Amino acid sequence: MQSISTKHLLGIKDLTANDIHLILETAKEFKDVINRPIKKVPSLRDVTIANVFFENSTRTRLSFELAEKRLSADVVNFSASGSSVKKGETLLDTVNNILAMKVDMVVMRHSSPGAPHYLSKHIKANIVNAGDGTHEHPTQALLDAFSMQEKLGDLAGKKVAIIGDILHSRVALSNIFCLQKLGAEVMVCGPNTLLPKYIREIGVKVEHNVQTALQWCDVANVLRIQLERQQIKYFPSLREYSLYFGINKKMLDELNKDIVLMHPGPINRGVELTSDAADSHHSIILDQVENGVAVRMAVLYLLAQQN
Ligand code: CP
Repeated sequence: MQSISTKHLLGIKDLTANDIHLILETAKEFKDVINRPIKKVPSLRDVTIANVFFENSTRTRLSFELAEKRLSADVVNFSASGSSVKKGETLLDTVNNILAMKVDMVVMRHSSPGAPHYLSKHIKANIVNAGDGTHEHPTQALLDAFSMQEKLGDLAGKKVAIIGDILHSRVALSNIFCLQKLGAEVMVCGPNTLLPKYIREIGVKVEHNVQTALQWCDVANVLRIQLERQQIKYFPSLREYSLYFGINKKMLDELNKDIVLMHPGPINRGVELTSDAADSHHSIILDQVENGVAVRMAVLYLLAQQN
């Protein structure tokens, strides 16, 4: 049996192309499993996993929990709100106390970039990064690649435009690393103020005109404006952003080609996407959510083999 080259999933940057192919192939098998009448396998029986979330989440958290339960793991959930973090307990103390209860794996979301990397140097359990601030969101990129492959086959040579708030997005960076390792071409598109300064140095095309980006790509992966991470104004108003960078169904229909529309969620309807675009036949947004469970099953299963 093939194995993954790492004990933790901290970011796509640390994975090899072989690791990514292995995760995506394994996810295909788990997708078959979760579409059977009996959706559970005993692969992680006697493994205990803590989902430790210091930031809000709907999709990632539920998807990890379902993935763990489908693999027959024991699951505990921790939210910073309502916990002793509010009394000043540190990240390391919090996690060490959870691990003292004999937890084998930690799935962690945190607002600080590098928080799971820091933990990995101090604890023995496997760590899965479920999003660290503006840095990486590796399982999102993997489920995005899986969903693109379902529509387009091999991603080598395919063109993917990531459109929106690249500066504050962990999804953008993980997608760029993942798609490049799979041989796809990547473009980022957004206002100059929402593109990081280093972006031209990591081998992506840069575009400021959304129509040009849509004409160029096979896949448009649209990101939301992350107002909660913005301390200053990066554009005059949401209305103006929507006017220049928002995507509607008419724009997609008028391309006269097949285009795949993606969004990691949550969608700000009427800002980056109109409802008629988000809910159109171009969109695979709910397929992404469905595939998240199989992809996370694959990640947990492969990492557990490393112990
Ligand atoms: N895509 C994503 O990470 O969504 P949540 O914040 O709801 O987990």
